[in-house]
Amino acid sequence: MKIGLFYGTDTGNTERVAKQLKELLETQYGAGSVDLLEIYKKKKEDMAQYNTLVLGMPTWYDGELQGDWEEFIPEMEQIDFTGKQVAFFGLGDQYGYASYFCDALGVFAEIAEKKNASLVGFTSTQGFEHDFSKAQRGDQFVGLCLDVDNQDELTKERVEKWVAQLTTEFA
Ligand SMILES: Cc1cc2nc3c(=O)[nH]c(=O)nc-3n(C[C@H](O)[C@H](O)[C@H](O)COP(=O)(O)O)c2cc1C
Repeated sequence: MKIGLFYGTDTGNTERVAKQLKELLETQYGAGSVDLLEIYKKKKEDMAQYNTLVLGMPTWYDGELQGDWEEFIPEMEQIDFTGKQVAFFGLGDQYGYASYFCDALGVFAEIAEKKNASLVGFTSTQGFEHDFSKAQRGDQFVGLCLDVDNQDELTKERVEKWVAQLTTEFA
């Protein structure tokens, strides 16, 4: 198993979680199984070489995308995700931005799906008090949503649970 773990971050929170995920996934799949890559200035070829992807992003400024991820969209739209499994995680603030919680996740999940990606790692919305999220479908998020601004005490447990889930869902 080789996993491409791409993240973008403005203030470092997503990077912190990305490092936790790498460590936990490597406990499962072995040292060196996860390539941790910042999305900044990456090209489509950098992502297209992986069949298993974990993509992490915060949401900023009332539902806006993190800048480096936004720049990556034209690259992402040229990737054929057929046969690729993709798990998303997102960071947000469910109280400060209750109407836009983790929106970026929903935006990118749609792009990946349009290009035939197989999405894994959906999680329950239980335990969150947002009003609206583009990342939500029914009572699930299209990946793992985390709120380190308000519920950081739950981050470790949420991340561990998600990695256990991914190991059952990754082919
Ligand atoms: C000015 C500002 C705007 C934000 N806008 C949103 C938002 O629209 N939706 C959301 O879920 N979180 C929002 N957040 C919360 C960030 O996504 C959260 O702090 C995240 O952990 C930042 O991740 P990063 O350090 O990787 O950039 C906002 C935070 C700030 C300070």
